Amino acid sequence: MTRADLVIVANRLPVDRIEGPDGEPAWRRSPGGLVTAVEQVMQGMDGAWVGWGGQPDLDLEPFVFDDTLLVPVSLSREDLRDYYEGFSNGTIWPLYHDVIATPEFKRSWWDAYVRVNRRFAEAAAEHAADGGFVWVHDYQLQLVPQMLRELRPDVTIGYFHHIPFPAYALFAQLPWRRQVLDGLLGADVIGFQRVADAGNFQRSIRRLLRYPTKGDTVTVPTIDTTPRTVISKAYPISIDADQFLELARRPDVIARAARLREQIGSEKIMLGVDRLDYTKGIRHRLKAYGELLADGLITGEHVTLIQVASPSRPGVEAYQDLRDEIEITVGRINGDYSTVETTAIRYLHQGFPREEMVALYLAADVMLVTALRDGMNLVAKEYVAVRQDNTGVLLLSEFAGAADELGSALLVNPHDIEGMKDTMMRAVSMPVAEQTRRMKTMRRKVIENDVAKWGKKFLADVNALRPREVGE
Ligand code: F6P
Repeated sequence: MTRADLVIVANRLPVDRIEGPDGEPAWRRSPGGLVTAVEQVMQGMDGAWVGWGGQPDLDLEPFVFDDTLLVPVSLSREDLRDYYEGFSNGTIWPLYHDVIATPEFKRSWWDAYVRVNRRFAEAAAEHAADGGFVWVHDYQLQLVPQMLRELRPDVTIGYFHHIPFPAYALFAQLPWRRQVLDGLLGADVIGFQRVADAGNFQRSIRRLLRYPTKGDTVTVPTIDTTPRTVISKAYPISIDADQFLELARRPDVIARAARLREQIGSEKIMLGVDRLDYTKGIRHRLKAYGELLADGLITGEHVTLIQVASPSRPGVEAYQDLRDEIEITVGRINGDYSTVETTAIRYLHQGFPREEMVALYLAADVMLVTALRDGMNLVAKEYVAVRQDNTGVLLLSEFAGAADELGSALLVNPHDIEGMKDTMMRAVSMPVAEQTRRMKTMRRKVIENDVAKWGKKFLADVNALRPREVGE
């Protein structure tokens, strides 16, 4: 049995299963943000990654990919319905995003969540070296820290929560609220995106469990030993800024951006890049843009909106409804305001490779990030990172975690359609000197606080608790 000093536990493995050149199934590194983030931490370490292989009923033995031991956790169709689409994305996701959609509280979903979390915890317990470090990621796996602690009291456990943690009054709706808090408190270090998330978590701990909290620590009583101290604080996640800059400097990417601009033909390009998710405020953005066209304040020759909405969670009803609604709205706006020569909204229900995304970022004069609630929003940071000439305008929702660091963006409340319309107009007509001043400040922040720094900060707190450092 191979055991690793560092074990990552996340809902998905960092690879996608594809058809290889010989027609046989093969694996390809997946392009996600979590992969990039954790990859930096794992460099040079003896690491394993526990996660789901992305397809139902994949019963596979652990295998090595790019020097990392991948440990697939098998999920049946029923697990996917009740644990992934159900409890994770039909209960926790809407509840933690301020109830933008209505969370459903189903006991059968909770049972599946407990069952699947145990499976992940057992796989991690099996593959962690003596005294190793296990880093659990995100809302799908909130019970894993405690389950793992029971199985392997010798390991140090970290947990990072990538999405918001809601205010007490919302969290309190969850019928299994105490179990979730106990599950998380199995970790030694619990990381959140924003200071406000860590504050909400600590408030729930005080109100529901009555454990004392002080600064960044929670004191957890234990039956027979001295109380445990758990660190819970904000570690805002970021991007690999150098990797994005490298792409932005590539001649083929620069040429692609120029070609896109030329083909689109309008004076200005506004861009939205999101997973097709109701938390992203895509409908609000379309409404504001549609009204500007209706008011005659802009025309298709003047401004084009490119909206990339990558397919997401198609088995969840709220996502199906959202897709219908967005596609009807796009159709109406294009029907009313496109011309034979111009298209008001270029809507793409597709995912694109990173090179194409960077070309789009370089081509766009204005980036629209209008999330109603978002843990961080890395698209905002990606746009800023690649704008080397310091032009371009970021219109950013104050409800995205990125707003804490990117205060020089044009901040908006996406529920305020009039406010969004005014800010969009301001964005498309902003003088270059002002663009430069704002962009410079934001770029400095994103480049200084990149994902490597995020990982180091989290690990520094973990290492402060351990007899030997992770990776030593
Ligand atoms: O933002 C939370 C998150 O789970 C990310 O980690 C992930 O990239 C994204 O949502 C997509 O989620 P899913 O695994 O459900 O496709």
